[in-house]
Amino acid sequence: MTDFDTLLYEKQDGIAYVTLNRPEALNAYNIQMRDDLYQILSAIKDDDEVLVAIFKGAGKKAFCAGADLSEFLSAPSPVVARQVRFERDVWRLFLNIPQPLIAALHGYVLGSGIEIALCCDIRIASEDSQFGMPEVDLGIIPAAGGTQTLPRTVGQGKALEMLLANPWISAEEAYHIGLVNRVVPIDELLKAAEEIAKKIASCNPTAVRYAKQAVVRGLDQSLAEGLDLEKRLVSQLRALRAK
Ligand code: COA
Repeated sequence: MTDFDTLLYEKQDGIAYVTLNRPEALNAYNIQMRDDLYQILSAIKDDDEVLVAIFKGAGKKAFCAGADLSEFLSAPSPVVARQVRFERDVWRLFLNIPQPLIAALHGYVLGSGIEIALCCDIRIASEDSQFGMPEVDLGIIPAAGGTQTLPRTVGQGKALEMLLANPWISAEEAYHIGLVNRVVPIDELLKAAEEIAKKIASCNPTAVRYAKQAVVRGLDQSLAEGLDLEKRLVSQLRALRAK
């Protein structure tokens, strides 16, 4: 187990576990967490031993209650923030991790909490989860990719309703709109995420990465370009397997 200030990192049998670890602040996302996340994601990306990763939150109450509100007034100026973001674009890195990522969600999943979950490929929620995007109430807009990843996941109408009117939604509703893949009792959450992770880890790692790439990159392209991408990946995989 490797400890960062705000995250715990563990690796076992090809599965990486990343735990948001500020339970006293409901795992709110702060600048230190951004830096820790950047380091861990970079390590995961370059580590062939990691076949799949699970993201979860410490404590009973929350996966993540959004951006750390106590840093609102002390955050760097927009110019500095833009520079830091350019040099350390944690969200672009998150969305470019080649291995599958699974989010195990419980309790409050708000703002950046939803955005972190949306950077993952598969989302499992416990029955007690509550989802909300409070940014516009605070006079800001999501800055962790949410304006792009939410509509790509739940469709434009539902995404705009969540972003503009901030109705908090239950795990059940999150399942109905396609925000999460599955809802399970809280004491089965990690087990459910691990079952999927183990199944993925038992498959051919290159095939798994290529399948993820085909879907994720393909969705940003036209159907014709996506089909070309698939064709290229099929040939590359075939060539690799023939070696
Ligand atoms: N940033 C910083 N600290 C946060 C936080 C956040 N986003 N969310 C919760 N906390 C802290 C609280 O300040 C409190 O700290 P304290 O014990 O030192 O007072 C602790 O976490 C527990 O939160 P609390 O508000 O007591 O729990 P609750 O169950 O009564 O309410 C929420 C939970 C999520 C409804 C409430 O904490 C909340 O509204 N948080 C802000 C959500 C938000 O707007 N996030 C920003 C999205 S952009």
